[in-house]
Amino acid sequence: MTETTPLNDIISARIAEKGRITFAEFMATCLYEPGLGYYTSPGRKVGAEGDFYTSITVHGAFGRVIAREIAQMWRCMETPAGFTLVECGAGNGRLACDIMDFLAEREPTMYQGLQLVLVEQEPSLEAAQREMLAAHTNKLSWLSPDEFASGRFTFSGCLYSNELIDALPVHRVVMTSDGLKEIYVTCKDGGFAEEADEPSTPEIEAYLKRVGAELHPAQQAEVNLNAPEWLTAAVKALQQGFILTIDYGYTAPELYTPRRKLGTLLCYYRHQTEENPYLRLGLQDITTHVDFTTLMTCGEGLGLHNDWFGEQYRFMLSTGIIEEIEEIERSARPDEEKLRLRLTLKKLIMPEGGMGDTFKVLIQSKKVTTPRLLCQRRIGG
Ligand SMILES: C[S@@+](CC[C@H](N)C(=O)[O-])C[C@H]1O[C@@H](n2cnc3c(N)ncnc32)[C@H](O)[C@@H]1O
Repeated sequence: MTETTPLNDIISARIAEKGRITFAEFMATCLYEPGLGYYTSPGRKVGAEGDFYTSITVHGAFGRVIAREIAQMWRCMETPAGFTLVECGAGNGRLACDIMDFLAEREPTMYQGLQLVLVEQEPSLEAAQREMLAAHTNKLSWLSPDEFASGRFTFSGCLYSNELIDALPVHRVVMTSDGLKEIYVTCKDGGFAEEADEPSTPEIEAYLKRVGAELHPAQQAEVNLNAPEWLTAAVKALQQGFILTIDYGYTAPELYTPRRKLGTLLCYYRHQTEENPYLRLGLQDITTHVDFTTLMTCGEGLGLHNDWFGEQYRFMLSTGIIEEIEEIERSARPDEEKLRLRLTLKKLIMPEGGMGDTFKVLIQSKKVTTPRLLCQRRIGG
């Protein structure tokens, strides 16, 4: 499969100019080159007609359960008047819509003082978000990632994201008999090739050292320097409140285990996985699993408190998925539809084979004296 796209020439030209580029630069171009990148070109990416599903596309109950937790966050903050929600990587606005609909219906007092700020790398998605969130127009505003990270934007409330960090460009490394090397992308015989050499920045080794990762000979891994950078900007912007991060990933010992010899890089194209990132540039998604240890340790260093970390299924069970299922059961829907919905919701909470296990939820807080969250309750207790 050698389908070439305009990005082949663009990346080749950059390599010709610089001699080689880091994998992070390659991935950033494939995903975010204006007008041509996977996330910055027209076309549906998520859902049945796209390349992959996220929990949001499975069912609105995912957003409703998150909204229950956000309402609880509002309750345990002492400044309930001006609560701002910020979503980073908001895509078409589906999750924001499910959350806002729930809050408007069930939490009218909170909803009254609520503002929603959408942050998205791809500016053209604003139109889709505007349409999706038409019922909440007077609550909305938009920021580019640069504006979000500028230091001029501040807020109190909750910043949430779903599958943002896994879409940030990563450096790739390999352990050799000569020490840690970075994987660069070069051109060879009319195609792309990889070469290992000294890391482009000392931050890569510092990152691995900080999380205690000791790679075995020939082991490859990814280093997501963008993740702590994004978190640093987020913490600067957040005056008081919570950061809720949902994504697939592991703690560092699980992520950097020698069993994962080739790292976690994976591409998606029309619901098929593909290991080769040098195909269909800009047409296939490129992702990596998130290192939650880095988010937690960096968060602590920035003054955050790690309130809760665990599997999505545990989060959903303790925050309200059962109540959502009970509401469906009590509704006047036909039995057949109820059964279909129950099976759909199972996908979100199935520990094995579903989205409930690999997906994790991390909640961090800043300047909240008693964060009593729904997910901190014991399941069934
Ligand atoms: C995997 S998609 C997830 C979309 C949506 N949250 C969902 O779950 O369906 C990642 C999204 O994050 C956006 N993105 C990437 N980097 C970003 C950044 N630094 N700030 C805001 N959005 C970003 C991408 O453009 C893309 O829409």
